[in-house]
Amino acid sequence: MPTLPTTALIRAALPADETAWRQLWRGYCDFYKVKLSDEVSNRTWKRILDPDSAVMCIVAEVDGQVYGFANCVVHENTWETQPVCYLEDLFVIPSARGKGIGKALIEWLRNAMRAEGWARLYWMTREENNEAARGLYDQFAQADGFVRYVVRQPR
Ligand SMILES: CC(C)(COP(=O)(O)OP(=O)(O)OC[C@H]1O[C@@H](n2cnc3c(N)ncnc32)[C@H](O)[C@@H]1OP(=O)(O)O)[C@@H](O)C(=O)NCCC(=O)NCCS
Repeated sequence: MPTLPTTALIRAALPADETAWRQLWRGYCDFYKVKLSDEVSNRTWKRILDPDSAVMCIVAEVDGQVYGFANCVVHENTWETQPVCYLEDLFVIPSARGKGIGKALIEWLRNAMRAEGWARLYWMTREENNEAARGLYDQFAQADGFVRYVVRQPR
């Protein structure tokens, strides 16, 4: 990563990004201490590349190298006539943090929201999530106080 302030190119993920994406994805899963099966990761990557899937991914590239990604799902919403965009996963490699890449990824999505006519862009985070993530998110919106409940499939 160049040491000078650099503007990252934010763009949709392409087939050639697979190796970089998988490396970042592993870092993201490690951050959440989650072990996803290859089947899940393979399917997620496949859907990212599938134009008919609601899953999309943007990457941040500097000098030809990918340093971060955002995975999103665009979906219908009963409170809106337009679809909404859920930012599901956001990750920047540790060595490239604090240089504006996370912010550039969310800004790109905010612009896409306007261009695509999504009613909103939203995401969730753990209340105790690190200062970096909350510090970034607070620049875009105020947390709205919703609490998440999850009912899992019995195993
Ligand atoms: C959250 C994350 C994506 C931020 O990416 P980043 O590229 O480092 O963020 P940026 O450099 O764009 O930072 C933007 C803002 O965040 C805040 N911020 C960044 N690092 C910070 C830190 N260490 N402490 C406090 N605030 C911080 C600042 O307000 C900064 O704005 P400023 O540059 O105007 O001061 C990155 O830290 C990350 O991948 N973390 C691990 C995974 C994660 O937490 N994902 C989100 C899960 S919900």
